[in-house]
Amino acid sequence: MINHVVSVINQKGGVGKTTSTINLGCAFAQLGQKTLIIDLDPQGNASTGVGVENNDRENSIYKLLTERNNSQYYVKQTKIQNLDIICANVELSGFETEVAEDKNRAFILKEIMNEIREKNQYNQILIDCPPSLSLLTVMSLVASNSVIVPLQTEFFALEGLTQLLKTINRIKLSLNKILEVEGIILTMFDKRNKLCSQVEAEARKFFGEQVYNTVIPRNIRISEAPSHGLPVLVYDKYCAGSIAYEKLAVEILEKQKKFNFAA
Ligand SMILES: Nc1ncnc2c1ncn2[C@@H]1O[C@H](COP(=O)(O)OP(=O)(O)O)[C@@H](O)[C@H]1O
Ligand SMILES: [Mg+2]
Repeated sequence: MINHVVSVINQKGGVGKTTSTINLGCAFAQLGQKTLIIDLDPQGNASTGVGVENNDRENSIYKLLTERNNSQYYVKQTKIQNLDIICANVELSGFETEVAEDKNRAFILKEIMNEIREKNQYNQILIDCPPSLSLLTVMSLVASNSVIVPLQTEFFALEGLTQLLKTINRIKLSLNKILEVEGIILTMFDKRNKLCSQVEAEARKFFGEQVYNTVIPRNIRISEAPSHGLPVLVYDKYCAGSIAYEKLAVEILEKQKKFNFAA
């Protein structure tokens, strides 16, 4: 097992972090990769999106971060073979203030991740980050090998990306030397909208190879799937959104091999 840990991150909300985490997680699982999703957003959308009800999230990431027990009690199997999750609920929103005095707070998730890595059960571990650059996100960056950034193809998309990349670089220099930007996903692409193509062209110009070739289209089935507690790949296997996420998952795995991200 390679135990490759990826933060899915962007400080903007609504850009496709959770959607990408759920559906890449599902696609990896279907490709035979043992995959764990860690829901690190107090909103718990990733947990909902793979079908774990709110009243079934007693053993949440919040408890794991607080009690620092054996992670196995917190991992839940999903309906999808090879796909597990550690859930989040609203309790997580209090975590940052609770550990404000703890000097080693940036390393809390990393220690948990080390224990998960030692168990050697997963190929891919995806962390769904909250929409901020707060402590939870810093903890995720410190605990990860690399970062995948979903970027919504809209007018202000590239604004904020520079700041995000600076933050990632700062963490790399100070707290986690191995951290790399693995790739940028263009999401919610509408081919009838000229602006989307302009944003794509600009992103490719500035960030070159970092931007994945596969683009995720705006697709209604993608937005319907979470209310059924299913990844779109299960909800509607043949829709444009599912096909795109499957293709992207293959591209990501190939790039991981090529650049040794998952060494
Ligand atoms: N490709 C897409 N096509 C249509 N709707 C999408 C797509 N990607 C995400 N959405 C919808 O947009 C909203 C925000 O996406 P989400 O993944 O929750 O963003 P984030 O986690 O970055 O806040 C959700 O309602 C989601 O269903
Ligand atoms: Mg989200």
